[in-house]
Amino acid sequence: MSTSDKEMQRYNHYISQLFAVEDDLLEATRAMMQQEGLPSINVSASEGQLLHLLALMSGARRILEIGALGGYSAIWLARALPADGKLITLELDEHHAAVARRNLDAAGVGAMVEVRVGPALASLTAMQQAGEAPFDLIFIDADKDGYVDYLQKAVTLVREGGVILADNTLPDAVLDENGDSGAKRYNAAVAAHPALVSGIVPVLRQEGMDGLTISIKRTRGTARASV
Ligand SMILES: C[S@@+](CC[C@H](N)C(=O)[O-])C[C@H]1O[C@@H](n2cnc3c(N)ncnc32)[C@H](O)[C@@H]1O
Repeated sequence: MSTSDKEMQRYNHYISQLFAVEDDLLEATRAMMQQEGLPSINVSASEGQLLHLLALMSGARRILEIGALGGYSAIWLARALPADGKLITLELDEHHAAVARRNLDAAGVGAMVEVRVGPALASLTAMQQAGEAPFDLIFIDADKDGYVDYLQKAVTLVREGGVILADNTLPDAVLDENGDSGAKRYNAAVAAHPALVSGIVPVLRQEGMDGLTISIKRTRGTARASV
């Protein structure tokens, strides 16, 4: 049995038009990204809605994102925060960061989102050293070769019971059977991590299917919890 790309597109369309209809501000964000020459590698609307839902389910007040691009996923996430919530998003590229700030301001969430520019690993290390308050949810979506390093930092920066998400973790891990992709190493690392309970949810986008790896940090005192 095989599922054609056309079927996948129909599934994606069904989910998006029912649950993840973009408003004018999200549409304008994508238009601005295109106008500014940013690549179209943001999450799909249906995945954005899934991120929004997961942030609400975890009662997130503080969110960390690794990989801002033009701020599209950050808008979906920030919209799940309470009025006094905070989202920090890390971005390597100055131009991407500038476009993200503009889009976040235009979407009305600029005051609760901070875009930090620099290599994510250095920013994460600086956060650890500065004793950054724990995050309720961390979304990893930049530079797959760095995913395992980001995971190690994320496990220390997320609160017990908090959520760590990683994007683009399915085709790269499965179809490159003999390879050693960042996604494959990431999935193996979370599956073996004693402090995490993890799984993968397939996600649909216009170009086909991908995966979102979801982990929850165990609460101390529960089985297998030791960081
Ligand atoms: C897939 S895009 C993020 C998409 C965004 N989360 C969304 O869905 O709207 C990845 C972003 O990570 C940034 N990036 C790549 N390597 C990075 C690094 N080492 N540190 C921080 N950001 C990085 C890229 O410049 C790019 O903007």
